[in-house]
Amino acid sequence: MFVVEPPSSCVLLMAILVALASAARGTRELGIYGGDRATTEDYPFAAILCSRMYSGDWCDAICTASLVSPGVVMTAAHCFNDFMGLFELDNNFQGREAYERRVLSSYRVIFGENASGPHLTSKAVGVKKIVVAEPFSFEEGSSSWDVALVFLEDCNDEVEPIQMLSTSSSAESGPTWQQTPWSEVKILGWGDSEDFCVSPYRMMDYHDPLQVMSYNVTSCDDLAWCEEEGNCDEQKAMCLVTTNVASCGGDSGGPVFAELSAAGGEEALRVVEAFSGAAGGVSSRGRGGRFVQVGILSGGEILPLENHAGDPGTGEEGFRDEATAALVPAYEDWLRKYIQTDECLEKAGMTVDDLFLDLD
Ligand SMILES: *[C@@H]1O[C@H](CO)[C@@H](O)[C@H](O)[C@H]1NC(C)=O
Ligand SMILES: *[C@@H]1O[C@H](CO)[C@@H](O)[C@H](O)[C@H]1NC(C)=O
Repeated sequence: MFVVEPPSSCVLLMAILVALASAARGTRELGIYGGDRATTEDYPFAAILCSRMYSGDWCDAICTASLVSPGVVMTAAHCFNDFMGLFELDNNFQGREAYERRVLSSYRVIFGENASGPHLTSKAVGVKKIVVAEPFSFEEGSSSWDVALVFLEDCNDEVEPIQMLSTSSSAESGPTWQQTPWSEVKILGWGDSEDFCVSPYRMMDYHDPLQVMSYNVTSCDDLAWCEEEGNCDEQKAMCLVTTNVASCGGDSGGPVFAELSAAGGEEALRVVEAFSGAAGGVSSRGRGGRFVQVGILSGGEILPLENHAGDPGTGEEGFRDEATAALVPAYEDWLRKYIQTDECLEKAGMTVDDLFLDLD
């Protein structure tokens, strides 16, 4: 799993990777890096954002996404960095229709597959509109507004969208994420499971299985990346941490979610309640109340754990994955504004309210 690293942290990341190189070999298994295999039967809302810019007939997985409305998937804005111009346009393509067509024809969305590839472009769902969050700034590398919506050419009437956590009931004075440091959330992704994720050695493994992993929600003060001012606005970002498991390239845009009813559901409920400041239970108005999406994976860094024995090369103590995500409830108004234009909603007999999990 991972991240498109912004230029400034790239240097840092590479230095860390080099330091970690010898630690990476032999001490870990391949995988999302310690994540668990998952299938789209378990998480039908999970989607692959793929690009046909590289091979045309084949659509290469570039990011992870989630179905949030019958005709819309949500992902990270930075996933579209092959078209940096998008971040400057404020979603206004007037006079730039040819450019928009080129952008749209470059991407597809894939549902129901357990592996990131190979997938034929002809079998993937076409894209009719891409909306990136206007204030998003790729150069800053911040997870703030790292949100994008991808409107599908064909409604997905087979899969229930994952509900997004609504902020409507969150008391302003209520606790925030940073006060619930032990709460766990999960993320899904088809991202890079090869060594390159945590070491500079790239292995030839073009296709990756869908995996799921957990993160602890923590204060952004705990993240090295957040030490630089402006990188992590706790009103808009979630800070996530775990050890010896990592999200890697291709996991960006993946849903950060809580599971409401399965085993571990109570913990997830606690997360949701803690965020909203709600004392009572959670009631799901819409369909698909089992999962709730709270964030969108944006970026991350792999850092060696402190080795007090003074030998950073042994890696006995493993590594720490520090990640940031855009905090979904912080963007609710923006999300509603665009998603309510999804023509598939009416066909599915749904309204935009059904897409959000409202906390009473
Ligand atoms: C995904 O994996 C599940 C469980 O093994 C299997 O039932 C399903 O057919 C797989 N889907 C695809 C598209 O291969
Ligand atoms: C979260 O923190 C708790 C307490 O330190 C720890 O036991 C657990 O393994 C952590 N979970 C993850 C996903 O890192």
